Amino acid sequence: MTAHPAVLLENTRKSFSGKAAIKGVSLRIEAGERVALLGASGSGKSTLIRLMSGLERQDADAGRIEVLGRTLQSGSDLSRMAREIRRDVGVIFQQFNLVGRLPVHTNVLMGLAGQVPLWRSLTGRFSVEERALALDALTRLGLLPQSFQRASTLSGGQQQRAAIARTLVQRAKLVLADEPVASLDPESTKRVMDHLLELNEQQGITVVVSLHQVELARRYCQRIIALRHGEVIFDGPSHLLNPALIERLYGQGARELLAPVAGLDAVSLDARQTPHPSITQMPASAA
Ligand SMILES: Nc1ncnc2c1ncn2[C@@H]1O[C@H](COP(=O)(O)OP(=O)(O)OP(=O)(O)O)[C@@H](O)[C@H]1O
Ligand SMILES: [Mg+2]
Repeated sequence: MTAHPAVLLENTRKSFSGKAAIKGVSLRIEAGERVALLGASGSGKSTLIRLMSGLERQDADAGRIEVLGRTLQSGSDLSRMAREIRRDVGVIFQQFNLVGRLPVHTNVLMGLAGQVPLWRSLTGRFSVEERALALDALTRLGLLPQSFQRASTLSGGQQQRAAIARTLVQRAKLVLADEPVASLDPESTKRVMDHLLELNEQQGITVVVSLHQVELARRYCQRIIALRHGEVIFDGPSHLLNPALIERLYGQGARELLAPVAGLDAVSLDARQTPHPSITQMPASAA
């Protein structure tokens, strides 16, 4: 484990038109962790991920966001190193983020956009080595047959797998995935989540994935950070976040999080728990 955490949030705040979406969140994610950000719709998952990837700026009275050992944001100031930091961060969105008219293979090569001169990525001038890297990533993700198809012709699950392949080509050290399986059928959900798990276990990439089903979060992540109304209401080993606690923490909102995930085999949950530095658990005030 490296000395610096993958993500460090110190009193992160974000409001939109005076309405707080993230209300002073502080947390630390170590390199190599696989963490689920759990929360009902509107709880702040996307905003937090956008803040961690530098796509959204904090409020002026917020603290610091450190990513991979470097300060990304301090108050509302975005670091001058933001571009360099982002080079090491792969972001996967709920809404598919490929360029539809370009072949899958070219989309995957876009993972190199931060590393090669702009003119090369715009004109598609990639070296033989770079192309081989993309084909290798596509093979790993089971997309070799689709490599030269336009991205727009892929299914949702295939598009998400292509986005994961792009983070491999990017050689991202941290992957932030915002509800990558929200629009997918059970079979594709499982495949995409399995690949995120593989990325973490085989490549040692830190994975932070937002989800709104506790069953998926528990199945795939050792640690869950649960958000409600822009605040962390639970942070600890996934097995401790059982349905009873979810109901206590979320009240009415629990139903959305407890929705069953069809097609997940009855795996033993929480098989790989790792020691965890902090457990935060606060009773929901209005539950
Ligand atoms: N660009 C924006 N402008 C105004 N309000 C916003 C903006 N982005 C987010 N919000 C508000 O911030 C709060 C948190 O939204 P966010 O999208 O982060 O939630 P979420 O947990 O990702 O929800 P979902 O599960 O529906 O994706 C919501 O009240 C939302 O309306
Ligand atoms: Mg969202």
